[in-house]
Amino acid sequence: MLNDIESVLITQEQLKSMVEKLGERISEDYKDKNLLLICVLKGSVVTMADLMRAVTIPCQIDFMVVSSYGSESKTSGVVKIIKDLDHPIKGYDVLIVEDILDSGMTLSYLTKILKNRNPSSIKICTLLDKPGRRAETVEIKPDYVGCQIPDEFVVGYGLDYDEKYRNLPFVGVLKRSVYEK
Ligand code: IMP
Ligand code: MG
Repeated sequence: MLNDIESVLITQEQLKSMVEKLGERISEDYKDKNLLLICVLKGSVVTMADLMRAVTIPCQIDFMVVSSYGSESKTSGVVKIIKDLDHPIKGYDVLIVEDILDSGMTLSYLTKILKNRNPSSIKICTLLDKPGRRAETVEIKPDYVGCQIPDEFVVGYGLDYDEKYRNLPFVGVLKRSVYEK
């Protein structure tokens, strides 16, 4: 698995401190609120698991599985809900926890769907942000960002290529030879 990695972009130690900082900010901002963390599976599972333990205020969690229509490398932006939330979100301060914000199309569509369910508020937390990749048509600004990264395909810490590499404990750049076969 390690042979397929070009370079380590974010080390385990850096990830730990990034997530701790996010947790501190969220705990402060939501201390008088009704926080519900929503994890969009599968990529966000590692971020969610670490972030929820860095949050020091009471909160609830829920999970969603969505798939975007279109080819693997190009998201159409239209999202199909494969697994919906277990409970209504009315009255909750929803924070969507994402692994990476790329074109932003998936999250922009998902946010619209969830807004229609009348939560008290809805915000976005993403571990990684590739601002250079944002689709022109998409108006999305993440409220909490772990760090911005250049336009490279990265894997690890939940992020996959072809469902692999999610279990790497760091974020690394995947060798082009792996996906340009
Ligand atoms: P978008 O923001 O709608 O383009 O899609 C974001 C999704 O694309 C993420 O949740 C990931 O599943 C996937 N994705 C985007 N960039 C990468 C990457 O560099 N590595 C792994 N998955 C990625
Ligand atoms: Mg994802």
